[in-house]
Amino acid sequence: MNIVLGITGGIAAYKAPDLVRRMRERGAEVQIVMTASAEEFVTSTALQAVSGRPIRSNLWDKEAEAAMSHIELARWADLVLVAPATAEVMARIVSGGAPDLLTTICLATEAPIALAPAMNRVMWSNPATQANREVLEERGIHIIGPGVGSQACGETGSGRMLDPDVIAATVFNLTGGKGEGLLEGRKVVITAGPTREAIDPVRYITNRSSGKMGYAIASAAAAQGAEVVLVSGPVNVAEPPGIAVINVESAQQMYAATHDVIGDADIFIAAAAVADYRPAKLVEQKIKKNDESMSLDLVRCPDILASVAHLDPAPFTIGFAAETENVLDYARGKLQRKNLDLIIANRVGDNCGFDRDDNTATALWKNGERSYPTLSKVDLARELIELAAEHFYAVRGSDTQPKLTIISNKD
Ligand SMILES: Cc1cc2nc3c(=O)[nH]c(=O)nc-3n(C[C@H](O)[C@H](O)[C@H](O)COP(=O)(O)O)c2cc1C
Repeated sequence: MNIVLGITGGIAAYKAPDLVRRMRERGAEVQIVMTASAEEFVTSTALQAVSGRPIRSNLWDKEAEAAMSHIELARWADLVLVAPATAEVMARIVSGGAPDLLTTICLATEAPIALAPAMNRVMWSNPATQANREVLEERGIHIIGPGVGSQACGETGSGRMLDPDVIAATVFNLTGGKGEGLLEGRKVVITAGPTREAIDPVRYITNRSSGKMGYAIASAAAAQGAEVVLVSGPVNVAEPPGIAVINVESAQQMYAATHDVIGDADIFIAAAAVADYRPAKLVEQKIKKNDESMSLDLVRCPDILASVAHLDPAPFTIGFAAETENVLDYARGKLQRKNLDLIIANRVGDNCGFDRDDNTATALWKNGERSYPTLSKVDLARELIELAAEHFYAVRGSDTQPKLTIISNKD
């Protein structure tokens, strides 16, 4: 894959050499195009060394233009990725102007364009930037991230560039399946994130699920051509482009939203960490601090996964088992008890599973299992969707399987 990597003038440009390395490890040729501001943050010497190609930056460089013109570069690209993407370059692309080499290529290319924004949280939430993001997404430009967390300016919030391995994996997902998808014409319903079970108007019971795994699975399914509906608990993950997201809070709301959309679904993937119990009654006013101790009466939440798996007809149903011990035993028990087609077992707690960008999982089914090494959640999601498609067609019959070539980035 030929990638034009545009680097613009944000602090996160220091991550660009790592991003180049990660994309080259996956077999991509990377041609870097820097803006003048980017050169203030990272040297072209370092980038030339990691990309193995001369850096392009000046639209008016006669020698470089003679060797490969900006139009040839735009044609050469299978993908144009701008990372980091400043607020300024987003505005330039929206305007359709082409004052520099990078924006000229963006205007002249027929390849997909992806931007990984990186900026101060106030710049990102500014209505001007958000309006630009919306226009870019409407035009089919992929927005990767940004993430939430501590920023170089000392603030905390949304605007951090995602980690290079996550961007690299996302980019390969975008280009790997689109248009010749394993799940073309299929509807996939996915739940993601935690639920919140209200105790009183200000307090709730929740868990440490970040939603990253479910969101990555939703993107991977969409990249394989599926119509995806994502039923999401409260998370801090950017909504994937082109995917219908239904936001809910409690397990009961997630149950209702899932059953509203499951009717014509081919595949159901329950990646959400749904509360098992909720307070028996919602106290209407804030509970005051009176006694030395107090207890909460809890009742069972509805079991969304089992309820879908027992529908008649039921979609091909995949559950997750997040466990802290006896992971595979518990997962196999859950597979049988809940009548699932597949279950993905993963260990959580102690620096694994929840609220991380990577995950280690084993997929189990009636007569077999497959273990995966530690992978970024984006990579693991792609693997799991390929496995899900393989098993789905095995159960539903191969005559329903689209004729396709699987492009694998694994080798
Ligand atoms: C120290 C410093 C850090 C900056 N960091 C960012 C940033 O992270 N994101 C951003 O959108 N702009 C940032 N800017 C502003 C951009 O560099 C500025 O808008 C510039 O015109 C962008 O040009 P370009 O998009 O052509 O690279 C920063 C400016 C300075 C001086």
